[in-house]
Amino acid sequence: MPPVDVLVLGSGAREHALLTALSRDPAVHRLVCAPGNAGTAVLAADRPVEVADGGQVVALAQELAADLVVVGPEVPLVAGVADALREAGIACFGPSAAAARIEGSKSFAKQVMAEAGVATAAAAVFDDPEACAAHLAAAAPPYVVKADGLAAGKGVHVGSDLAAATAFAREVLRGPGATAIVESYLDGPEVSLFALTDGRTVVPLLPAQDFKRAQDGDAGPNTGGMGAYAPLPWLPPGLVQQVQREVLQPVVDELARRGTPFRGLLYAGLALTSSGPQVIEFNCRFGDPETQVVLALLETPLAGLLHACATGSLGDAPPLAWRAGAAVTVVVAAERYPGPPVTGDVVEVGPLPAGVHVLHAGTRTEGDRVVSAGGRVLSVTAVADDLGAARDLAYEGVAAVRLRGGHWRTDIARAAVAGEVRLPGQPA
Ligand code: AMP
Ligand code: GLY
Repeated sequence: MPPVDVLVLGSGAREHALLTALSRDPAVHRLVCAPGNAGTAVLAADRPVEVADGGQVVALAQELAADLVVVGPEVPLVAGVADALREAGIACFGPSAAAARIEGSKSFAKQVMAEAGVATAAAAVFDDPEACAAHLAAAAPPYVVKADGLAAGKGVHVGSDLAAATAFAREVLRGPGATAIVESYLDGPEVSLFALTDGRTVVPLLPAQDFKRAQDGDAGPNTGGMGAYAPLPWLPPGLVQQVQREVLQPVVDELARRGTPFRGLLYAGLALTSSGPQVIEFNCRFGDPETQVVLALLETPLAGLLHACATGSLGDAPPLAWRAGAAVTVVVAAERYPGPPVTGDVVEVGPLPAGVHVLHAGTRTEGDRVVSAGGRVLSVTAVADDLGAARDLAYEGVAAVRLRGGHWRTDIARAAVAGEVRLPGQPA
């Protein structure tokens, strides 16, 4: 590939991981991240931009003469930023607004899955709170209630208390035109499987697992994600190929058939149930924090792959090359996260052991210091020859972080290292 100038949109640890991988690609000539954070500024020039404003993004990409724009978060994708870039003739990694609805509307995702014959939780859609409450009252626990639209990880309630589930549904349905989904509960360990696609060809990445609850043992409230590891030593052989065949390719084909091809990263959140893998959700972009571990292990130059997705030539790409071993990332969060976080605290990172790198999320520079600027502050990522060593290294890295009030889970990848992840029907 000729040298390319790449603009990455976003400001999280996912974008820092994308930049880190892109900076290793000899084909990348210049990297810019907008709006970025204190960590991305070290790798790429940072530029202010309102990422969900197509006009602003196109103007910035034109000013930079970017050959490729990589859209990190879902909000600009659902808002149509990829459409604006393509209309301006700029190659974009990221789906159109029409294809991004796979994440932007859970009821739309259910329709696509039904058309494509993809296994997922049974669901009923409501706009009337009384009908929804009656449905819940007649259902068996655990109850799963979701807001239909984007909710930054706060749109899902899972629990066995009928009153709490009903109250959540009423809250979701308060706004005019709001829609709630009540789903059957899916049992079994969760897998995040990402696939690159140009709208036709589907290339799965390494499977990963994330940890969504705030506290050890999956206690506490949901968060954007407190840690992740890849690959998954407990995954049955052939599972990735099965999901490619039964989930990813059928969904990509169905979106193409509708005239809204998906070009970018299709994220399947799966539960491995006793009746096989079932889809919990789709996202239309790289997941955070799974991207931090998946890209840490990718050896194939990333810019060429993302460019091939943007331009419809992924079928010509060579098979992916992966570093042997495993990666673990642990998120260091600010005081009070996932509530409104305390920000403005100094963030310092001491010397790190070999194999550990720190990716920034909610940080900004203030003079010559780095201070916290969001809920998830850093994503401390380690790569080693096996999962146990990667986990130990990641926590050595966390010990080098100084952030007043900072907190993190201590059990990221613990059960997998101990061989304690059980598939349904497997003896304990
Ligand atoms: P989502 O935002 O759809 O990824 O949901 C957040 C989390 O809620 C998931 O990672 C699951 O742990 C849980 N969840 C969502 N849907 C279901 C379901 N149908 N059954 C069991 N757990 C679910
Ligand atoms: N890891 C969950 C997400 O990115 O939505």
